[in-house]
Amino acid sequence: MDKERLKEEIRRLAEERRAIILAHNYQPPEIQDLADLTGDSLELSLKASQTEAEVIVFCGVHFMAETASIVSPDKTVLLPRLDAGCRMADMLTADQLRAEKAKRPGVPVVTYVNSTAECKAETDICCTSANAVKVVGSLEAEEVYMTPDKNLAMYTQRFYPDKRISYWHGYCPVHEALTKEKVLEAKARYPRALFMAHPECRPEVIDLADAVRSTSGMLRFAQESDAEEFIVGTEVGLLYPLSKVAPGKRFYPAWEGMICPNMKRIGLKDLYLALKENQYVIKVPEEIRQKAWQAVSRMLALK
Ligand code: 13P
Ligand code: SF4
Repeated sequence: MDKERLKEEIRRLAEERRAIILAHNYQPPEIQDLADLTGDSLELSLKASQTEAEVIVFCGVHFMAETASIVSPDKTVLLPRLDAGCRMADMLTADQLRAEKAKRPGVPVVTYVNSTAECKAETDICCTSANAVKVVGSLEAEEVYMTPDKNLAMYTQRFYPDKRISYWHGYCPVHEALTKEKVLEAKARYPRALFMAHPECRPEVIDLADAVRSTSGMLRFAQESDAEEFIVGTEVGLLYPLSKVAPGKRFYPAWEGMICPNMKRIGLKDLYLALKENQYVIKVPEEIRQKAWQAVSRMLALK
C-alpha cells in the first residue's frame, strides 16, 4: 500500500472504530499530521480524559499509553509499537521507589508522568514538565521526594529555597546529552536567537536559557515572543510543530544529536496495523490503576 492509501485507510479505520489518535509533539511529522490531537504530556493526559472515543491510539511512548489507561479504564488504549519505551521511566522500578519511601516516612512523593504505572501507584501526586513547580508549590511539606528525573527536581528546587527536594537519580538521556559547551557553540553561531530549554536539561544548561518550558510551552513562547530566531533545547521532533505554529520564524536545534529513538518508532504502517489488528492493548491492572489514578487525579485537579 502506498503512503496516501495508508493514510486514507488509517482515517477510515479510526472512524469505523470510533478511535481518536493522539500524538506527542516529538512524533514524526506524518504521524502528527494524521493525529486528531497533538500536545505535551499534560495536554495529552487531559485530552485522554475528556475524549468520547471508544479507542485511544497513542502515538508516543509506553508510559503515555499507560497514563491514558489509568485515566480512561473503560476505553481500549493502543500503543502501535510495544518497543516504544522511555529510557527515563525505565530507570526507576516500583521496588526501588518503595525502598526510597521507607527511608523517608511521611515525605510526600512527587512523580513525573514519565514513569511506570507501578511507580505512579506508589506516589502521592504526579507532575509533568509543565506543572512540576505548581505541583510542588501545592504541598505544605517542607521536604519533598521527586522521581524519577533529577534534572526536573533540581529545576523545581530553584523556586523553593525553603523546601528540601531530594530526588531519584534518573534522567532523560536525550536531554542529558545536551552540554553547556554545545549550547555555547549554538549561541555563538546564532547570536540573535533566544535559547529555550526543557526542564529535563542539566542545571548548567538551564542557567543559559532565556525560557525554560515543556514542549507545548515552547510552542506558545515561540509564537508570543517578539524574537525571530530560537535555539531549541529539546528533542529535535519539536522543530516540526514549531515551524507550523510560527512559520515566519527560524528554529535551530541546540544540538542535532537530540533524537529519542523511541519517539521515532511508530510509522504509518504501525498505526494502520494498530487500528486493524487492535494492537497493542495497554491495560493497567485495576489494583495498580486505582492507586495510580489517585496520584494523577490530584495533579489534574490542580488545573
Ligand atoms: P513534555 O512534552 O511534557 O514537555 O515532555 C517531554 C518528554 O520528554 C516526553 O517524553
Ligand atoms: Fe523518555 Fe527522554 Fe525519550 Fe521523552 S525524550 S520518551 S523522557 S527518553
